[in-house]
Amino acid sequence: MKIGIDRIGFATTNKYLDLDELANARGVDPNKFKIGIGQNKMAVADMTEDIVTLAINSTLEYLDDVDLAKLGLLIVGTESGIDQSKSASLFVKEALNLPNEIRTFEVKEACFGATAGLMMARDYVRAHPNHTAIVIGSDIARYGLNTSGEVTQGAGAVSMFIAQEPKIIAFEEGHASYSEDINDFWRPNNFKTALVDGKYSTEIYLKFFQKTFDAYLNQNKLTADDFTAITYHLPFTKMGLKANRLAVAEASEDSKARLEENFEYSTKYGREVGNLYTGSLYLSFLSLLENAGANLQAGKRIGFFSYGSGAMGEFFAGELVSGYEQYLNKELHQQMLSERTKLSVAEYENVFTETLKDLPEDIELSSDVTAGKYYFAGQNGFARNYKIKK
Ligand code: CAA
Repeated sequence: MKIGIDRIGFATTNKYLDLDELANARGVDPNKFKIGIGQNKMAVADMTEDIVTLAINSTLEYLDDVDLAKLGLLIVGTESGIDQSKSASLFVKEALNLPNEIRTFEVKEACFGATAGLMMARDYVRAHPNHTAIVIGSDIARYGLNTSGEVTQGAGAVSMFIAQEPKIIAFEEGHASYSEDINDFWRPNNFKTALVDGKYSTEIYLKFFQKTFDAYLNQNKLTADDFTAITYHLPFTKMGLKANRLAVAEASEDSKARLEENFEYSTKYGREVGNLYTGSLYLSFLSLLENAGANLQAGKRIGFFSYGSGAMGEFFAGELVSGYEQYLNKELHQQMLSERTKLSVAEYENVFTETLKDLPEDIELSSDVTAGKYYFAGQNGFARNYKIKK
């Protein structure tokens, strides 16, 4: 039975910061951010946007195509959760009017959370072939003003509908996983911004890529030449570029050129929004699908490298399904990115600082955000409210 991604939706914030302007404000050569780190812009979330609103808005993109009677599972992967106990997925389920009979919960393992959800959904659909699942990776990456990680912040969600006989990509059997207990990135309970040892995290990411890629190739008797493209978790695009260099090291000249060209297509959206943490790998996949054009043929194999600090890595792959192009929303996504409001560095700093404040027990918020349908409307007795924009 073929199981995979049947639909895919994406949401980000409608505010962004141009990283040339951030470089100038921080006294850094703009080429360091654009070329050295590989990022152009980053999405900035305001007080009325959180992982729940992003998750809802990304799923609304395709929900009309889902037969709710067959939906059995909803998983939200995140590492920027809004409650220490209650799952974000319950807020999402309610806003989307999903059936009360589904199983729903939140998963955490840094940026690996959505992949953990995806693998659970794949196994769930295999065990219950008449049922389907929704898996969402939703995050807001915050490192702090004037930190070295500042340029690698971002926000957004990718939502995937998982079913048998999928319309976009069917996963191959198997996967290669690797984990170790290390401290490359973490966020203690009393911190609103992440702590990161950026250079160490790059070293571990590359080590985990090599281990899981080699294991997957051995397991399935493949070489790099057997892939039309490999997509990566992209906290910043340079990190994936370094892994892709490892991937093509022993490939033929033709394969090397193809994998390098397709890697560039997979980075286009990530360069514009920054790190989505759990959603990042799946945004790379979406970016590849919507930008590679004739470079991507149905029936070809695409690799996925998922990495979550702490650390957990996994490599898996799938085959593009004939007619996949018909199920994409390229124009909508490109419009979403081009119609965002640009913030000055001072405006970004104000929005950012405001989002770090503790909210009072009771507060009502209004939103000036034009993108997406839902916003975070405040809280009563510290219980969060989500509303539809007027
Ligand atoms: N022109 C072109 N390139 C330039 C340049 C210029 N003028 N100036 C510098 N560069 C290059 C450097 O040569 C370097 O390139 P290489 O990496 O190829 O050597 C690159 O720009 C960065 O320079 P530095 O290493 O000096 O930059 P830095 O000290 O400011 O750190 C960083 C950069 C490590 C990426 C830092 O921004 C950071 O820590 N970011 C966060 C790291 C991160 O996201 N880790 C992710 C872990 S995975 C994840 O997403 C987390 C998870 O699971 C939760």
